[in-house]
Amino acid sequence: MNLSRGRTEPQVAALEDHLRAVQGRRVLLRADINVPLTQEDSMLCDYRLRRVAGVVRRLLRMRCSVVVMSHLGQPGGKVDESLSLRPFVEPFAQRVGYPVQFAASCIGPEPKELLKSPYPNQVILLENLRFHAGEEQASWDFAAEVAKLGDIYVNDAFAVSHRPHASVILMPHLLPAYAGPAFLDEYRRATQLLQQIRHPVVGISGGRKLDKLAAYQRLLPLFDRLLLGSGFAMEQRSVSLLGDHFDRVIFPVDAVVKRSDGTLRTAKINEVEPGEAAIDLGPETVQYYCAVAREAGTILFNGSLGLLPADHPLSPTREIMSAVVRSSAIKVVCGGTGCALFLREGYGQQIDYLFPGGGATLTFLDGQSNPALAALQEASQTARQAAVTLMDPASPGQAPSREKEGTP
Ligand code: 3PG
Repeated sequence: MNLSRGRTEPQVAALEDHLRAVQGRRVLLRADINVPLTQEDSMLCDYRLRRVAGVVRRLLRMRCSVVVMSHLGQPGGKVDESLSLRPFVEPFAQRVGYPVQFAASCIGPEPKELLKSPYPNQVILLENLRFHAGEEQASWDFAAEVAKLGDIYVNDAFAVSHRPHASVILMPHLLPAYAGPAFLDEYRRATQLLQQIRHPVVGISGGRKLDKLAAYQRLLPLFDRLLLGSGFAMEQRSVSLLGDHFDRVIFPVDAVVKRSDGTLRTAKINEVEPGEAAIDLGPETVQYYCAVAREAGTILFNGSLGLLPADHPLSPTREIMSAVVRSSAIKVVCGGTGCALFLREGYGQQIDYLFPGGGATLTFLDGQSNPALAALQEASQTARQAAVTLMDPASPGQAPSREKEGTP
């Protein structure tokens, strides 16, 4: 497998290189406040919130106002109060160290009213973008409506860079667009990882997002072993989605099972009774997974391996995480939940690569094109051509399709 695949420094306008162009402007920041939650809906870890707070503080120092847009979960284009970003306003404000206002919709009069405030340097958090179908459907009308809230667009959410959504692929064409520091940092570290990978490569994958399995299927030639958590393992479609190189995929042999009365037991996979649900890995599987991790050259850990909280006495997650950190492999953890689990255990320093994005990192590693990067590159190229045309009307540069102010 050609791992580097010719990846080079992206041809995008980096925020860090254009701080003067951004100074004092209203920045529409695509961030990832898709904070991993526990089953009781409390924050599993504030890692993502702290990262976003860092870039917001940076922009405030440049006397910018910042309008933060994000998604939370996958509400499918409808309002779902359980996925509102409102509960994050206070925790976010604490981490920024500055008041944060909340707009209960990302379009319509409310955010515009907030922006009429006579005070400069506001920080406004918009409600979940995915409450509107236009976000996932990449509607120009939706993108144009949200774009009215800023003079400048910054994408600092590498974790959604694989999603061809309005806030990711359209906004760079509506406003002068920059890649944020965390976005570029993740891109560069992922590129560096591709050049360092050592075999045997072991993937340890939890979670349930089926589109991740498609990325795994394309990554299977890279893996020597792919160990599945209980979510994917119980999903019948996993088998067909993983396709070729199936011999490298290891399924759990036993599980922690929840009976219909809510009590737990451990059982071989083929002895799970009707009415019972396998919710986590069983002890035999855990021993095997730990042994494979010990022999690995590179470990790529993604997602939560089962449904039991890491501090539950029957939870396998802690034991497997401990085997990962003790192994001499290059250790890569990706995804909101994966990063949160390792950071909560105090393992942050022992991991070589922490990538907050799960699906985005896997998609990047498997060589797929990156819609966010493509849009930022296109926008930067159009802006450069526009600048050339302005300087020399006789030059062969193509005119930009939309007028842009403060061209990067
Ligand atoms: C993530 O958690 O990996 C990102 O926030 C992307 O979320 P998504 O898979 O719902 O697009």
